[in-house]
Amino acid sequence: MDLGLRDKVAVVTGGTEGIGFAAARQFLAEGAYVAVCGRRQAVLDQALAQLGPRAFGQTCDMTQEDAVYAFAKAVYDHFGRLDVWVNNVGATIARHDDWYTGEEIDRTYAVNFKSVVMGSQAAIAYLEKQGGVIVNVASLAARCATSGRATLYGPLKSAVVGFTNTFAGEVAAKGVRVTAVLPGFTVTPLVKATIRPEDLVKQGQTCLLHRPAAPEEIAGPIVFLASSQASYMTSTAIEVSGGRSVTLNPGYSYGK
Ligand SMILES: NC(=O)c1ccc[n+]([C@@H]2O[C@H](COP(=O)([O-])OP(=O)(O)OC[C@H]3O[C@@H](n4cnc5c(N)ncnc54)[C@H](OP(=O)(O)O)[C@@H]3O)[C@@H](O)[C@H]2O)c1
Repeated sequence: MDLGLRDKVAVVTGGTEGIGFAAARQFLAEGAYVAVCGRRQAVLDQALAQLGPRAFGQTCDMTQEDAVYAFAKAVYDHFGRLDVWVNNVGATIARHDDWYTGEEIDRTYAVNFKSVVMGSQAAIAYLEKQGGVIVNVASLAARCATSGRATLYGPLKSAVVGFTNTFAGEVAAKGVRVTAVLPGFTVTPLVKATIRPEDLVKQGQTCLLHRPAAPEEIAGPIVFLASSQASYMTSTAIEVSGGRSVTLNPGYSYGK
């Protein structure tokens, strides 16, 4: 199936590791050029070395307004066009005490929501030149509560889905589609490094498919949404959770 991405330019924020890196690799495999950003220079350098000559990258903290606009401009200056912008940056930030400090709220908001709004606004001036696509990486947590020490993660991912819809309405006339994916539990290198192997297995077994996702399994739907095969899709969010919503129903028995 031709995804119509050959020679297109796709930006993946936070594309140096995890789901973003897997998405960058799949865009390249489809013949696109790719731009990635992250905060750490060494990790960026390593990613660019693996992505090869069709990739461009720059350090950029996606929570910093000026840096976001500068990154979008740098990508455009480098490639001369911009067709796809994936807002992939996000993080579950656990609060340290019983209740959030103001600083923790601001930080969680900035990385999960502000980064998406700023990224979308920075991209639009370039995407509208020939039409394009924004794909926002939300989370299954947008649909179901994730209580615990990261209480705000889900509500902010819900806001990302809400913004996907409102922004889609604002930019449709400019020829830009705006979509979102809602990943479930995905084993990225960071997850692997921070969660005990037995907890990884336990967590993975909670969905219908009885295993966590690999980053490539989230990257596939991201690339699809960005492709010409999704040309009639805008203001929509795809859940990629191995059927986790179904097993959240306490009345559902899924055995094994
Ligand atoms: N993994 C899961 O189970 C899961 C499930 C549902 C949704 N998601 C969502 O999927 C997205 C990717 O998650 P992931 O698990 O692949 O993350 P990850 O493995 O932690 O990778 C995050 C990437 O984003 C970069 N990054 C983080 N903060 C940044 C910032 N402020 N500015 C620029 N770059 C930044 C990181 O590089 P630096 O650290 O060098 O900046 C890295 O390249 C997130 O939005 C996450 O909420 C993940």
